[in-house]
Amino acid sequence: MRTLRTISGLRTALHAPRREGARIGLVPTMGALHDGHLSLIRRARTACDVVVVTLFVNPAQFDEAADLGSYPRDEARDANLAREAGADLLFAPAAGEIYPPGFATSVSVGDVSASLEGEARGAGHFAAVATVVAKLLNIAQPDVAYFGQKDAQQLAVIRRLVRDLDMPVRIEVGATVRDRDGLALSSRNARLADGDRERALALPRALEAARGAVAGGERDAGAIAAAARTVLGAAGVRPDYVEVVEPDTFAPVDHVDGEPVLVAVAARVGDVRLIDNELLTAPVAAGRATDTATGSP
Ligand code: PAJ
Repeated sequence: MRTLRTISGLRTALHAPRREGARIGLVPTMGALHDGHLSLIRRARTACDVVVVTLFVNPAQFDEAADLGSYPRDEARDANLAREAGADLLFAPAAGEIYPPGFATSVSVGDVSASLEGEARGAGHFAAVATVVAKLLNIAQPDVAYFGQKDAQQLAVIRRLVRDLDMPVRIEVGATVRDRDGLALSSRNARLADGDRERALALPRALEAARGAVAGGERDAGAIAAAARTVLGAAGVRPDYVEVVEPDTFAPVDHVDGEPVLVAVAARVGDVRLIDNELLTAPVAAGRATDTATGSP
């Protein structure tokens, strides 16, 4: 695996394989790699001829200076893990390479950026994500780019960005990788104090309760969210939000039936803000399924 620091260096490294028709896969990360990231790299390895991992802690997308300052950075460790998972090239630019003096352009993706994480982290957050992802896609020009379901709203923003700007790349999604106890892997988990680690399990359990409510026949989005809130409340975790939304637009959903919905949750546990989500599909009610099958209105 080679590490490249410059845009021209990466483009030069990709020139020959691209000319020979190699399939190029891109896995954007901010480092502090864990099994969630590595699952995306491994997946790229199985599907692509050249796997590019990017490691760039994008300062523009952090809403809290303290969060940016404490973001774990260990490039040597990340480089080893990326190589072992199958990366061919590691693109690890300095901030000045991505944002040279005079940099003035921002890509902002409407609607889907506004609610939930957009509201909690400020309007600039998803614009900063969309801008840096647009740049990384333009820099590497991959055939496929890999993102995790863990950051469901980010994924929706990126899908919209790629569609709206006609970017010639396929977006592939990796399932959320969890610890054995169910907590979604995140670089922030390391900052959870001992008791908080246990309390953080309220997030996946709340999502399980939402799934259970749907399995038990509940179709009202408010009641499904309430089932999740009850679990959080019992653990003493006060959520920033628990919402049932349409997974592509993040528009709120009132009623769950047939179409997939996303239950999204965010909560601060101790000093650490965590997010998680679950995709759910309620079976279509028997009467309606029969109507569809017989073609009746
Ligand atoms: P980062 O938080 O490093 O995440 C990189 C990729 O790993 C994202 O696509 C994220 O959804 C995925 N990921 C994180 N935790 C995961 C888990 N437990 N299971 C599966 N996938 C997981 O997301 C970013 O960086 C940045 O916003 C970035 C897209 C790189 C732009 O700066």
